[in-house]
Amino acid sequence: MLNESSARARLEENGQDHVLRFWGELSQTDRDTLIAQIETIDFRLMNRLIHQWVTSPPPEERFKRIDPVPVIPQGGGEDAQTAWQAGEEALRQGRVGLLLVAGGQGTRLGFDGPKGAYPIGPITGNSIFCYHAAKIRNLQSRYDCVLPWYIMVSEANHATTKEFFREQDYFGLNPKDVTFFQQRMVPCVDEQGKFMLEQPGKLAMNPNGHGGVIPAAMDNGISADTQNRGIDTLSYFQVDNWAVKVVDPLFIGYHVMRNGQMSSKNHRKRRPREPVGVHCICDGVYRVIEYTVLDMYPQLLETDSEGNLIHFAGNPAIHILDVGFIDSLNANYDNFPWWRAHKKIPYIDEKGERVKPDEPNGYKFETFVFDALRFITHEPIALEIAREAEYTPIKSREGDNSVAAARESMRNLWGGWLEKAGVPVSRDADGKVAVDIEISPLFALDEQEFLERAKGREYDATSGLAIGPEGDVETG
Ligand code: UD1
Repeated sequence: MLNESSARARLEENGQDHVLRFWGELSQTDRDTLIAQIETIDFRLMNRLIHQWVTSPPPEERFKRIDPVPVIPQGGGEDAQTAWQAGEEALRQGRVGLLLVAGGQGTRLGFDGPKGAYPIGPITGNSIFCYHAAKIRNLQSRYDCVLPWYIMVSEANHATTKEFFREQDYFGLNPKDVTFFQQRMVPCVDEQGKFMLEQPGKLAMNPNGHGGVIPAAMDNGISADTQNRGIDTLSYFQVDNWAVKVVDPLFIGYHVMRNGQMSSKNHRKRRPREPVGVHCICDGVYRVIEYTVLDMYPQLLETDSEGNLIHFAGNPAIHILDVGFIDSLNANYDNFPWWRAHKKIPYIDEKGERVKPDEPNGYKFETFVFDALRFITHEPIALEIAREAEYTPIKSREGDNSVAAARESMRNLWGGWLEKAGVPVSRDADGKVAVDIEISPLFALDEQEFLERAKGREYDATSGLAIGPEGDVETG
């Protein structure tokens, strides 16, 4: 444990001792907190990031050529059935675990709590976590396996996320198979590369991005736990995607059949500037180009003679990671790319006053899991998905990725299942489902299962319908 003088020496060596400016006024608890924060800082890394991204001109990448990724079509290619069987076999053998990233701050959604606790079900009020858990329970019984669920959280939401699971009795999952682990934090810096104080005795820090899942999996024994359980394949997804297939046998099958290191799903972008990353091959290297830097790569906005986007492969952030690949990435984590985001960061000024800036005034540094794709050495596996059935993220209050858009997408999907089963469903003049619908993933994960289980049952979706785990009608 650092003490005051060793902490001070470390800060002085690195030109950051201004953060002890209020030391004389701090309580013992605040002093301990500040020292504990300083102790976690990797100064070698921070000096590199400050040099690379703040005090020198930021690195600029240009590619000679950008090619679309080769994509396995929706539903799989000619070998789809073989892939499906290979995926089911891997599941039955207990080789598969789940890796969820849920450490983000959810600022855009404006929800006060972990994003996974958002009551997404329009009738039941069930949370996104509850939906993910119901899918897991269904798959565990379908394949008679355990799907250990590793959930990455951050300092800001670790306790609240765990508490939410406890309150909800782990949604019927075995708590032994649900592991929360915390990602590392990194200091925010001002435009001169100086650390910032959030309070007189507390540094402003942010989670190190979802790429932080790689060292965090190692730091927290996740990698060891998977090995003990005989798991070599992790299905990776983001907390905000309500529709996600937490595990997809077809995708797992392609991954294991081709000895994948990291595989990806992608969906057809709706428009050139849709706020999703784009999967592509840049000068021979598999990359995802973030939507925030699209203007640097105008070719990614081009369409063919029929008006179709050439680089259509949007990134829903659904991957499969081989456990051995995570270990090798971690061993070379020094080479993992970092990014900066220019943000409005509240801070304590020299006089000890708290300032809430109106303009961006500093930088947050983050790593992105999709950058791991740069390190794959085998042919990449990219599977196209039907967006409606697999990708309805909730990110903001309004627009494409809002709660309202996700609910609309899901009621259209579920409404279609109901109609196939002969159930009347109210639709509006545009043909869209006009009432709220929910179907518990414990009752049916997909249309086929729904049609089988709904046989002989009477439903009516002319005025809204929630079907519960046993097929009973729920009122919320
Ligand atoms: C992200 C992807 C984008 C993709 C889109 C799909 C990035 C930079 N871009 O965009 O390519 O098309 O999702 O929905 O991620 N998280 C952590 N720890 C962190 C930061 C984030 O666990 O430090 C988690 C969040 O909880 C969330 C996920 O990562 O589950 C994505 O974060 P978010 O900020 O929503 O990413 P987007 O900018 O929407």
